[in-house]
Amino acid sequence: MPIQETETIWMDGELVPWKDANVHVLTHTLHYGTGIFEGIRGYKTKSGTSIFRLTDHMRRLHRSAKVVMMDLPYSVEQLVEATKETVRSNNLGEYPLLYIRPLAYYGYQEMGLNPLTSPVRVSIAAFPWGTYLGEEGVASGIRVKTSSWQRIDMNALPPQAKTSAGYLNSVLAKMEVLKAGYDEALFINPQGTVAEGPGENFFIVRDGVLITPSKVTAGLEGITRESVMTIAHDLGYEVREEAIARADAYLADEAFFTGTAAELTPIREIDDRVVGTGEPGAMTKKLQETFFAAARAEIETYREWCEFV
Ligand SMILES: Cc1ncc(COP(=O)(O)O)c(C=O)c1O
Repeated sequence: MPIQETETIWMDGELVPWKDANVHVLTHTLHYGTGIFEGIRGYKTKSGTSIFRLTDHMRRLHRSAKVVMMDLPYSVEQLVEATKETVRSNNLGEYPLLYIRPLAYYGYQEMGLNPLTSPVRVSIAAFPWGTYLGEEGVASGIRVKTSSWQRIDMNALPPQAKTSAGYLNSVLAKMEVLKAGYDEALFINPQGTVAEGPGENFFIVRDGVLITPSKVTAGLEGITRESVMTIAHDLGYEVREEAIARADAYLADEAFFTGTAAELTPIREIDDRVVGTGEPGAMTKKLQETFFAAARAEIETYREWCEFV
């Protein structure tokens, strides 16, 4: 489905018409993948549009910038305000689910690998976008296949930073499993344990315990991952961060992905092995229901996650 166009996109401090939000073909990041970005959700709530953990996303953008030595010209607070301004100016209040894409990249100046002589440019786009892995996936679970592509090695291209270059790895895995007839990929990391999806963190439930790969093996430190772990803990479930072997994933009672785009999507099959009963499990459903309510500002405890425009 093509992106649903809105009116304006924030570029380097000003709102420009959607159709004019263009860059030069010699933009450094277009050639070398030197950009960093975020994916953020906006939700329609009873109190207006709320952006889920907007400040935490902009903090992560700053952390990605630090890893790739990019000098971001805007503070977290300025980026938060710019995002709210973008959402407000596009009159997106009627849409139940929004997606917001901040991108920081090196513009057009010099040829060559060193990006540090090129200007850092920042854009923020906001548009309506439904759930990434489909309504049916959210309700009934998806079919996942381990990719033959390994997750990027942390000493080659750190998966802890949300870099444009790193996403070619995700794109290869995604294309591979879609062509094979599955819904989403699962990555094994170079250490040999389960890492994450191309755009999601991974969880299993075994014997009533919620388990997700520990930070070093997990890849991206997902904001949804952390939110779901907090919710699980508050609901009284035992939560563990530890390495997950591929066979542990097959033997899970329940499994699911978390991510800004995917929200909380149950997994019903991994490599043609049915997970548990093949239906979303009790813990998965409880966490999903609580997460959705939290994102829509319906739970007081998690209201601080909701940043109203
Ligand atoms: C590779 C990868 N892992 C995990 C996630 C989940 O992170 P978050 O919950 O912060 O969106 C994402 C999505 O941003 C991702 O691209």
